[in-house]
Amino acid sequence: MAVSEIKSGIYSVGAIDWDRRLFDELIPLPDGTSYNAYLIKGSDKTALIDTVDPTKEHRLIANLQKLGVEKIDYVVSNHAEQDHSGSIPSVLKLYPQAKVVTNPKCKSMLMDLLLIPEHRFLTVTEGDSLLLGDRTLEFILAPWVHWPETMFTYLKDDKVLFSCDFLGSHLATSELFVSNEAVVYESAKRYYAEIMMPFRTSIKKHLARISTLEIEIIAPSHGPVYHKPQFILDAYREWASDDVKNEVIVPYVSMHGSTSRMIDYFVDALIDRGIIVKQFNLTKTDLGELAMALVDAATIVIGSPTVLVGPHPSAVYAAYLVNALRPKLRFASIIGSYGWGGKMKEQITGMLTNLKVEILEPVVIKGHPREEDFKSLGRLADEILKKHQEHKLV
Ligand code: FEO
Repeated sequence: MAVSEIKSGIYSVGAIDWDRRLFDELIPLPDGTSYNAYLIKGSDKTALIDTVDPTKEHRLIANLQKLGVEKIDYVVSNHAEQDHSGSIPSVLKLYPQAKVVTNPKCKSMLMDLLLIPEHRFLTVTEGDSLLLGDRTLEFILAPWVHWPETMFTYLKDDKVLFSCDFLGSHLATSELFVSNEAVVYESAKRYYAEIMMPFRTSIKKHLARISTLEIEIIAPSHGPVYHKPQFILDAYREWASDDVKNEVIVPYVSMHGSTSRMIDYFVDALIDRGIIVKQFNLTKTDLGELAMALVDAATIVIGSPTVLVGPHPSAVYAAYLVNALRPKLRFASIIGSYGWGGKMKEQITGMLTNLKVEILEPVVIKGHPREEDFKSLGRLADEILKKHQEHKLV
């Protein structure tokens, strides 16, 4: 990322990672990402908001040198995760007078994760401010987006909110500001689904908190900067709300075709009833796409054959992920088959304990589906339609 000026004296100095395709060795990043860092020059003091992933440290240092930054007084750490904090030790070496400004919980994590000595810290808490001369930083504690120590930094004079991971997007782009909201919407929704969705309750609180601020620009830690922030605030409000849509998500796996024959019939039955369906073959799907679909849907139906008396491992992985992401689903069910017996249904149901869902009668059959099995699938589709109607989703 080249150095870009957001406003007079406020610069983006982070790094674009065009090639990264996996985060935490788990989350697919089809469009790369960026690690955003921001330099704020006050009349007396200079502050750096966050750093970059250690793999891109040289880009941050080069950007600071390009700007001719001779002195950094404060390195504000909004979040201890290493994609933002990992280059703090090198920045502290380069600027020996700099203090790391963060909250006590983040300080403790930075000491554990990066072995930063205690004397390098200046701790702040909710509502504290830090004078840079003609500019003032204010700190807002915002735990659980998506770690317990996360916070926002607000530059009141310029109405800029530095929101750490919150409201961000995994998107590598050369454009400083959002230019195509449709593209950013998809990347931000993927990011929300994969990272923020389990913390929906905290997210609602933080949205309410920042609605009291005057904000012209939101500068997140990943993806482009929002110069029309209403777009992302509205999207987050919708995603984090309790509203669900007339949608059924169908992640499935099939070994010899019995389960896939059932899924094909069932999905058509849902479409015939006017329900939106998103079907994911778990051996081929990008799990990020599945996570995104879960943001809005009312119902999930997991399809699995029986392997070694239990669910197929791909179905186990999907059920584990769905349970961990805690989407606002209302209903769940299971479709599948077995050769001679097993506990597939019970094991999948037992993995969904985090979800506040009503389990609708599963359809689990022996062997290839017969006429009566298709009727059962039709009954399940009817039941889902009835539930969606009762909840006024249709
Ligand atoms: Fe982008 Fe939670 O780190």
